[in-house]
Amino acid sequence: MKLLITVGPTREPIDPVRFLSNRSSGKMGFALAEAAAARGHRVTLISGPVALQTPKAVRVVRVVTAAEMLTAVKLQLKKCDALIMAAAVADWTPARIAKRKMKKGGAQRLTLVLKPTADILKTIAPLKGKKIFVGFAAETHNVTAEAKRKLREKNLDLIIANDVTAPGAGFEIETNRVTIIDAWSTEELPLLSKRAVAEHILARVENRWRAGANQ
Ligand code: CTP
Repeated sequence: MKLLITVGPTREPIDPVRFLSNRSSGKMGFALAEAAAARGHRVTLISGPVALQTPKAVRVVRVVTAAEMLTAVKLQLKKCDALIMAAAVADWTPARIAKRKMKKGGAQRLTLVLKPTADILKTIAPLKGKKIFVGFAAETHNVTAEAKRKLREKNLDLIIANDVTAPGAGFEIETNRVTIIDAWSTEELPLLSKRAVAEHILARVENRWRAGANQ
């Protein structure tokens, strides 16, 4: 398969020295890219700012903001069979970026006005065709219900849900505990290395791909 994988956080600039971002390290997405290349797939990564070494045999497109990630996804989408959106895309971005460093002066309070970013999966949903779309849902509560809502609303084939507050799951660590959900089933995986989680996800994507190819 030709796989497109997005990873990492995005950064939304506030002024020339500051940004809004989140705790995504990119480890889950890079594990997916490494495992996919080892399984013989052709992989393109669209990566937000992360401090990880590029896996062998993987092409990387680097982006910073959610808007840049959307542009890169649209550009690369035509060439892929499956898209895995592992990136933690910012939902909000400053309504205006200050051209000069913001000075604190004597202020006791600062209000930042934010505007929503484009939802990448929703924006590209009309271009899906026979491509397989996989999303991630990192939640702190109502994990399965929230993931199922996103599966439907974003027109996905699979969604990988995880409770980022659970022991051994979440940000900056080597392990994860996820549930793989599609329209028919909910598969809870045990605590595993991110590489092992990646292998499970890829096996599911490959099954979907084979099933689609036989139709
Ligand atoms: N996503 C996206 N574009 C965005 C935000 C998220 O494509 N602007 C993708 C993520 O890459 C992920 C999926 O949508 O695969 C779910 O992201 P998540 O942040 O969990 O959900 P949100 O859509 O932000 O919903 P909520 O704020 O209700 O959690």
